[in-house]
Amino acid sequence: MKISVIGLGYLGAVHAVCMAELGHDVVGIDVDTERIAKLERGEAPFFEPDFPEKLSAALERGTLRFSADLSDVRECDVHFVCVGTPQGSDGSADLGALHAVREGLQKVLADSTREKVLVVGKSTVPVGTARGLSEAFAELPNIELAWNPEFLREGYAVKDTLGPDRLVYGVHEDQQFSIAHLDAVYAPILEAGTPRLVYGYESAELVKVSANAFLATKISFVNAVAEMCEATGADVVEVAEAIGLDERIGRRFLKAGIGFGGGCLPKDVRAFIASAEEHGVGDSFEFLRNVDRINQKRRARPVQLALEHFGGNLAGVPITVLGAAFKPYSDDVRDSPAIDIALSLARHGADVRITDPQALDVVRGRYEELTLVDDLEEAMSGARLLILATEWQIYRDLDPERVAELVAERVVIDGRGVFDLARWRKAGFEIMALGRGDRAGRLA
Ligand code: UDX
Repeated sequence: MKISVIGLGYLGAVHAVCMAELGHDVVGIDVDTERIAKLERGEAPFFEPDFPEKLSAALERGTLRFSADLSDVRECDVHFVCVGTPQGSDGSADLGALHAVREGLQKVLADSTREKVLVVGKSTVPVGTARGLSEAFAELPNIELAWNPEFLREGYAVKDTLGPDRLVYGVHEDQQFSIAHLDAVYAPILEAGTPRLVYGYESAELVKVSANAFLATKISFVNAVAEMCEATGADVVEVAEAIGLDERIGRRFLKAGIGFGGGCLPKDVRAFIASAEEHGVGDSFEFLRNVDRINQKRRARPVQLALEHFGGNLAGVPITVLGAAFKPYSDDVRDSPAIDIALSLARHGADVRITDPQALDVVRGRYEELTLVDDLEEAMSGARLLILATEWQIYRDLDPERVAELVAERVVIDGRGVFDLARWRKAGFEIMALGRGDRAGRLA
């Protein structure tokens, strides 16, 4: 099939490459000409495992091209809309880019060579958006709209797109054309046995925002339990392990620490609150405000511990933050707890060094109050406090005996619950691990 993918951010770029991988003829569109040039050269605009190889292969096969001109989508049968829906000033999702694409498509598709085309929304939107767009498209009888939310995780984006847990189609009443076209697009994925759920627009939109809000709630729940553990001497790693073995709860997304960040969960929680209020059910989503609040609170915890440790004064104290990305296997620093913590320490006067195996290039030149150090050992040398903020494998693998030789003072804050406390203590470290009490009612 001939497919267009409009908006080549994280979601769109991965979707375009994966659609070419499935055997389609794909054109990727974005207004950012620099990004287009980069993709045309086969260069990934972000760090994502498997993405560069699949991009190069598709370019070589000649089944993927890029353009900044929306009229290049005229010959396509299916158009995927993947533009961003960032957080607006009132917390709600900003749909400006989505409406700009809708207007553009209406112009371009008015004289499409195709008798009928399918426009598929993939962006995360507040419930009600698809119906509004479909009413606007109704002027052109050759356009049908479907909503097909995307659930990919950064770091596993290619894997998740080609092997999702489920495919959700949101369609207008019983639109067989939409269903048949989406089935044809995803044929190899469906043949592999992936569940396919066909709903109305509203359910499809709500699946996505509810899934993200639920995941965020799980994390904040375990982080609230972590606070309880710190107050009582219990260990959140133990509590999470045991409750997670109940299949109804499940083990995943119960890692306590400095909380969730990234381009999705924080903004989606806030957009869900705004959308619930708009629909008159804000009361029932009050708890999501707490999910957000707990998340912010956990980011502040390492700074609070650092202040307590240094008698309330961090002026000139050399502190090294291990990790800048919002999670490992990603160079994304959007709403990253690691960066927040580093900036907060710097505001308290600390001499903050930050290191990361992938994300430093992304932040270079952005924060003059932080010193970026590529080399891990150099970053830790002379530090009086280490804070683990992103659980990259290289940090998990650190040998405390070696680290002890580098630092000026043996103090560590584990913000992700991954260090072996006994091993670090044996090497002479005082280790403060978020949510892990020492059974004497103090932080371990
Ligand atoms: C998320 C959703 O998982 C995905 O389905 C959706 O499409 C987009 O948003 P992503 O933002 O890539 O994906 O990251 P995810 O792996 O969900 O992690 C989000 C944040 O939560 C990270 O900062 C991570 O460190 C944190 N997290 C995750 C925890 O603090 N504890 C956990 O147990 C899991």
